[in-house]
Amino acid sequence: MSAPTSPQRPAVLVARAIFPDIVEQLSRHFEVESNPDDTLWPRAELVRRLQGKQGVFTTGGERIDAELLAACPGLRICANMAVGYNNFDLPAMTAAGVLATNAPGVLTETTADMGFALLMAAARRVTEGEHFLRAGAWDRWAYDMLIGQDVHGSTLGIIGMGRIGQAIARRGALGFGMRVIYHNRSRLPATDEAALGARYVSKQELLQSADHVVLVLPYSAASHHTIGAAELALMKPSATLTNIARGGIVDDAALAAALREGRIAAAGLDVFEGEPKVHPDLLACRNVVLTPHIGSATVPTRRAMAQLAADNLIGYLVHGKPLTPLNPEVAAL
Ligand code: 8YV
Repeated sequence: MSAPTSPQRPAVLVARAIFPDIVEQLSRHFEVESNPDDTLWPRAELVRRLQGKQGVFTTGGERIDAELLAACPGLRICANMAVGYNNFDLPAMTAAGVLATNAPGVLTETTADMGFALLMAAARRVTEGEHFLRAGAWDRWAYDMLIGQDVHGSTLGIIGMGRIGQAIARRGALGFGMRVIYHNRSRLPATDEAALGARYVSKQELLQSADHVVLVLPYSAASHHTIGAAELALMKPSATLTNIARGGIVDDAALAAALREGRIAAAGLDVFEGEPKVHPDLLACRNVVLTPHIGSATVPTRRAMAQLAADNLIGYLVHGKPLTPLNPEVAAL
């Protein structure tokens, strides 16, 4: 049954294909233009479709900046179906009086699981072993066939200690008996450190002493190439590096060189500079596990993320109360 139309109903654009029942929920409150074919609209097309819209449901790939906002003066809210919001120019949105919301909390544990999956696959050479087997190369036992690094009892180094970093710390400390060290812009309260069994160290100490380094920090100009050639040179030759945060935090060319030359043992990567393109030198490395940005990709979590983005649109445009605003000062919330 379609909801009655009325000239008072706000109009929203859903920029990418999402769960049809969530589009249906939105259409109970709004005039909805959606994208069920999941066409990747060029920017000019996005701007054209945003004319007359008060809200937009974004998924992390749509860049919202001053130029777009100037071209879409009716826009009041951009709701991101992602916890990361580096596709938003937040100061420009605040200056334009446009509310930004993201999707924190609902993907924490799922993304931490993926971080561990990549860490373990890299350390224990899981995908390399599968490629070896599928290629028909397994014809005997050998003492050093695909020998890797231990995860249990090793030192886990986490760079970025927000919600997901802390969920990874818990898995490491409680599940695998790891010593957890971390580096972050700000230090956690002592009680949180004690609960997680995590010790704060400098970035240099972390890189020098961790057996497994996991990156979980947000992308910004300040975190661009947090790991480059100089940082990789500090790591142990037996260490692994896992990135579940954002492409651009790692210098992918420098990482490929370090992997190729055996300066670190292995890497697990879910995110890439310039994704969905992947640096050809990484594709050529056998000792890297590569996944296509699926850290939050489980059915319940993707549903919860979409629901939260939808609830933010409804919360703000219908009730004046978004759930997870990034710039609440826009609406004096
Ligand atoms: C998203 C993510 O799937 O939430 C994030 O920040 O990286 C992923 O969970 C991606 O951003 C697309 O929405």
